[in-house]
Amino acid sequence: MARSVTAFTCTACGAAHKKWAGRCDACGAWNTVIEEAPLSQGPGRGLGAAKGRAVPLSGLSAQEPPPPRACSGMAELDRVLGGGLVPGSAVLVGGDPGIGKSTLLLQGAAAFARAGLNAVYISGEEASAQVRMRAQRLGLADAPVRLGSETNLRDILTTLDAERPDLAVIDSIQTLWSDQVDAAPGSVGQVRASAHELVTFAKRRGTAIVLVGHVTKDGQIAGPRVVEHMVDTVLYFEGERGHQFRILRSVKNRFGPADEIGVFEMTGAGLSEVANPSALFLSERGQPTPGSAVFAGIEGTRPVLTEVQALVAPSTLASPRRTVVGLDSGRVSTILAVLEARCGIPFAGLDVFLNVAGGMKVAEPAADLAIAGALLSAREDNPLPPEAVLFGEISLSGALRPVAQAENRLKEARKLGFSQAILPEAQKAEGLDGMAPMRVADLTGFVGEVFGAG
Ligand code: TYD
Ligand code: MG
Repeated sequence: MARSVTAFTCTACGAAHKKWAGRCDACGAWNTVIEEAPLSQGPGRGLGAAKGRAVPLSGLSAQEPPPPRACSGMAELDRVLGGGLVPGSAVLVGGDPGIGKSTLLLQGAAAFARAGLNAVYISGEEASAQVRMRAQRLGLADAPVRLGSETNLRDILTTLDAERPDLAVIDSIQTLWSDQVDAAPGSVGQVRASAHELVTFAKRRGTAIVLVGHVTKDGQIAGPRVVEHMVDTVLYFEGERGHQFRILRSVKNRFGPADEIGVFEMTGAGLSEVANPSALFLSERGQPTPGSAVFAGIEGTRPVLTEVQALVAPSTLASPRRTVVGLDSGRVSTILAVLEARCGIPFAGLDVFLNVAGGMKVAEPAADLAIAGALLSAREDNPLPPEAVLFGEISLSGALRPVAQAENRLKEARKLGFSQAILPEAQKAEGLDGMAPMRVADLTGFVGEVFGAG
């Protein structure tokens, strides 16, 4: 007789345990390990005992038509989805509370509905009347979206099964509750079960499902990581509270490039698309100031110019401050170390503040030169040439490495009125016409060229 196997799961990190414990070994949290329903056991045990069905195998050369896509007409949203919404796909949208996820998805659902899709919006957080009020405020009252307010997973699935929509938005996965899992809504077990059921439904019925997910303090989607693996596309909706810019970023996409961004602006009448983000991110740039460097970056498939701002001030602290917003702080420490070791420019005893204007996040190593430029310019109190954009990766030896897609970066810079580019010597770049290049081999050369002897 098969022995029933009981599993224990940590509700904080999702780790599986063989037996109950007061403290989870994996994450160290107390009182988070709960018993889960036993896994159903098939007849017999082991692989040989029960016979499965043979799966038909095919070669790699088989002609598969590309997935048909539905476009909403919101160009920023369509691009982040990889060129439109794929039927039967599952999309997870994460973001801080109040950042505008519900607004984005209501507008998105309305746009898809106007484009002819049968769209359903199910809110587990707000009553239908609330959602309707918001829709009226956003001028979407005439869009043929159907609203529901429900948290019971079984009722939602029954509704979707009857309605057979093309698109269903579920806001949010943490509010859903399945009666087959004995745990509170929002717990690991519930989130995993709900996501699994909805993703399975999407594949079976060809309904595109968009799930909203809350984000924990450290910026990950709350609940088990496994939900991110279950879905086809994971999008993050980011932005600074004080800024009106919002960035929708794809971190995983089975149907398109990852790292693609869509830029929106939160206005009194909802989110409006920003077609030219470079102009927006540079719009706050005033007179040339020390500590400002314009980085010609690539986000996904398109070039985006951003302003890296640095402030360097004498510190009263034993270990000076390194405050970095929108950049990787490990990367910044490396650049500070290279400046000190290779160029003899110390930052000891100085507080360093670095920021990317407009609430943008830059993760490309190509931003190294712009970061170094901003730091040096702030330290020397000497502005960089205002007509110049910078890009290039800095190696630990202080040498500058070429980066990908230089032409696209230069084209965007020229379009925005820049006439000079500071770039690695080894960079092969065409399309420099109209741009005066300043090629530098290493960081020491850069300091000499731009700031005199340094
Ligand atoms: P919301 O979509 O409810 O955020 P989330 O679902 O991510 O929690 O957005 C709430 C915020 O957006 C709220 O602080 C007000 C602001 N907002 C506007 O500025 N303009 C608008 O038209 C709307 C609908 C919201
Ligand atoms: Mg919401």
